[in-house]
Amino acid sequence: MLLLSKGDIQKVFTMKEAVEADKEAFRIFSEGKSVVPLRTNISAPKHDGAFLFMPSYVEEMECSAIKIVNVFPKNIDKGLPTTPAQVLLIDGTTGVVVSVLDGTYVTQLRTGAASGAAFDVLARKDAKKGALIGTGGQAATQLEAMMAVRDLSEVKVYDLNAERLNAFVEQMNKELAAYGTKVIAAESSDDAIEDADLVVTVTPSSRPVFDGTKVKKGVTVSCVGSYQPHMQEMDPAILTRASKIYFDSVDAVLSEAGDILIPLEDGTITKDDFTGDLGDVLLGKVTARENDEEIIVFKTVGIGTQDLVTAKKIYDKALAQGVGTNWN
Ligand SMILES: NC(=O)c1ccc[n+]([C@@H]2O[C@H](COP(=O)([O-])OP(=O)(O)OC[C@H]3O[C@@H](n4cnc5c(N)ncnc54)[C@H](O)[C@@H]3O)[C@@H](O)[C@H]2O)c1
Repeated sequence: MLLLSKGDIQKVFTMKEAVEADKEAFRIFSEGKSVVPLRTNISAPKHDGAFLFMPSYVEEMECSAIKIVNVFPKNIDKGLPTTPAQVLLIDGTTGVVVSVLDGTYVTQLRTGAASGAAFDVLARKDAKKGALIGTGGQAATQLEAMMAVRDLSEVKVYDLNAERLNAFVEQMNKELAAYGTKVIAAESSDDAIEDADLVVTVTPSSRPVFDGTKVKKGVTVSCVGSYQPHMQEMDPAILTRASKIYFDSVDAVLSEAGDILIPLEDGTITKDDFTGDLGDVLLGKVTARENDEEIIVFKTVGIGTQDLVTAKKIYDKALAQGVGTNWN
């Protein structure tokens, strides 16, 4: 069995490869060629925690995977991650577990890559400016994904926590310097979004994190954070201005995300306003952007197929390059 740490994964796998892996995952999902049962959630009330198990199977890749991603909010006081995760990769021909991958990093990669895939397929080709709202655990890969698919001159970043915002901007300007994109701390979310061609929101907020009336025409917005019915980081105003609304999985989004459930419930939008899943665009079944003026929204909550395809591609490369720790 091959053990793959974050460092091992970074040695063999780039963000561009993660974007291609997610596109393949969305295509496989839309073709109905992945088995992704609803995740199992066992609560541990004594510790305010929950154990979450996300299984998946893709026959055409001869592999299965399960991501264990637990939520233990009190870990922050113990200096431990609040959502520790691992991915187990299983050989589909023998049932043998062949690899354990750092699940926190696989999640960050595939979640950033979902926005990357959406921007690659749906955003204006000449996009030059980005905006990122939220600078927590998922933010770095969201930022890199934007830079990986469009030649951006700058990305303005905003977070309610000024200390975290400034530290993030400083670190990203160093780590992602090779892209040649300036990362700038914005003074407000209005400042971040006003001139942006690409916008990512990645917060657990229960109230909109930007003013949807202020984004410019032609923008593509990827909303990543909300995954519970009360969570709403997307301003519904943008849904009424958008000419197209896409999802990673419309069923998954409608089972959990307030970003879409709340405006559906209050009648701001109806299901007739939905355009379709990104995988269907990749399969040529659904139209993508038709002109440079359209406002486009993509909502993602994450599907197990992304974990499986990303983990399998990383494992294949690590095996070929002799990277990782063997455990027998
Ligand atoms: N779509 C997916 O596949 C997927 C995958 C993983 C995580 N998530 C979700 O993404 C969200 C972010 O995850 P994370 O690990 O980065 O969270 P985090 O808690 O590490 O960071 C969230 C950041 O958002 C900031 N924030 C909150 N409200 C804000 C507001 N109104 N304006 C500006 N900034 C604000 C906070 O200050 C914090 O810095 C969570 O809700 C998480 O569950 C989604």
